[in-house]
Amino acid sequence: GAEQRHTATPARLASPWPAPRTDVERTFPPTFAWGTATAAYQIEGAHHTGGRTDSIWDHFSRIPGRVVNGDTGEIACDHYHRYPADVALMRDLGVGTYRFSTSWARVRPDGGAVSAAGLDFYDRLVDELLGAGIAPWLTLYHWDLPQALEERGGWRNRDTASLFAEYALDVHAALGDRVHSWTTLNEPWCSAFLGHAAGEHAPGMRQDAEALRAMHHLLLAHGHGVAALRAADPSLELGITLNFSRFAPLDPAREADRDMARRFWDGMAGCFAGPIFAGAYPEGFLADVADIWPADLVRDGDLELISAPIDVLGVNYYNSSVVAAPGGDLPDGAVSDGMVHAGPPGPPDAPGAEGPLPWIAARDAIWIETDVVSTEMGWENHPGAFRDLLVEIDRDLTGPAGTHLVITENGAAYPDDRVGSDGEIDDADRITYLREHIAAVHEAIEAGADVRGYLQWTLLDNFEWAHGYGKRFGVVHVDRETLARTPKASARWYSRVMSTGTLEA
Ligand code: NOJ
Repeated sequence: GAEQRHTATPARLASPWPAPRTDVERTFPPTFAWGTATAAYQIEGAHHTGGRTDSIWDHFSRIPGRVVNGDTGEIACDHYHRYPADVALMRDLGVGTYRFSTSWARVRPDGGAVSAAGLDFYDRLVDELLGAGIAPWLTLYHWDLPQALEERGGWRNRDTASLFAEYALDVHAALGDRVHSWTTLNEPWCSAFLGHAAGEHAPGMRQDAEALRAMHHLLLAHGHGVAALRAADPSLELGITLNFSRFAPLDPAREADRDMARRFWDGMAGCFAGPIFAGAYPEGFLADVADIWPADLVRDGDLELISAPIDVLGVNYYNSSVVAAPGGDLPDGAVSDGMVHAGPPGPPDAPGAEGPLPWIAARDAIWIETDVVSTEMGWENHPGAFRDLLVEIDRDLTGPAGTHLVITENGAAYPDDRVGSDGEIDDADRITYLREHIAAVHEAIEAGADVRGYLQWTLLDNFEWAHGYGKRFGVVHVDRETLARTPKASARWYSRVMSTGTLEA
């Protein structure tokens, strides 16, 4: 997280979400999908190989000050060259499903003509996976828009949405005979709001109205993509991945706090889930952003397209928060900090700087630090919130729509860059995180939520966006000098969970 003004505090607030039980053995259904997830720009490297040109992240990460340590994804984990060994490693760990993304800038280097060499890489990767008995789970957009399209307005330009559907069809033409599960977008909230309001992600803008344009055009891209893929092959499993957190009001009896929690939810999940599952932006969200809402943004037919049925909702979950509105009493031991947000803020000279938070609708929020463990990202661990979230999403959003859930990301960064003398990395804190969160998934299933898989983030320590390589989420350590892969203790632990389908007490 950002610079937090810590006050010495004798006792902090407890988590408002009861922890899942980890003292009972839990067995998952035999059909439950277990695996791991990555993304193209974070692991592939080979940034100009096979005709690939710059994506917005190549461009952005070269601008001084935008990424910690000046890190870029030019080499990343060199997965482009090392994929056979990485797939063999996954096979040895017992990975059943592997979620990866294709790079738009590799498949259509200038946003235009298709690159046969670019598609060939994914063709070989998919064959390698199938040969290892691993089911491929393909995400079409994990944030690496071709820079050539950014120069034509990127996600602020409505045309990008239809170009996305063309790109989706190109990938489908090459891989559709072997890949069953297709995700249109990964975490469009980050692309829209971290990219255009916070300035923290590519393209690094801080202009609220442009963030709203990007949001709508990303949703439109999802709609066009689903329509195109459905028409190409009605038997595909289609979906989108959204990022979710729960936001608890500090004082549930105080309306202003409840409304603040609602603004966070709507400004992160509701503004995407509403159009997709209800065919409408949440009313409260529209009211919150009414002053900056571009009048010409939503056209006739857009919401019908965006709300076409999908088969699966990918849930990315990491953390949750307790929030409050200004003006109330803060409890003893609570730390108030209006500046805490998802990561380092964009530089103050970013074009159109307006404010520090990506949650446009909640810029006067107060975040309350609780007494729970935080990861190296500064994100608070509330596994009980994960369970409640899944139950609520299933009940209110996906269940009624006949859509099931798969956890497409869950995991944690801890400062475990130490290979012990025995060659092991003892990342006990990551094992605890995974155990508690997998237990939460099981409790959600027990409560009736239709959750059919869990894909841990992530296989390899990799390029963590604006944080560079300093934040390690992998169950496999990657040496930044040699790029050697070393499974951590968590990889061995998770391997046992995957192969037995059981979480031991
Ligand atoms: C979500 C993103 O999809 C992924 O790319 C990122 O590395 C993780 N969160 C961790 O921040």
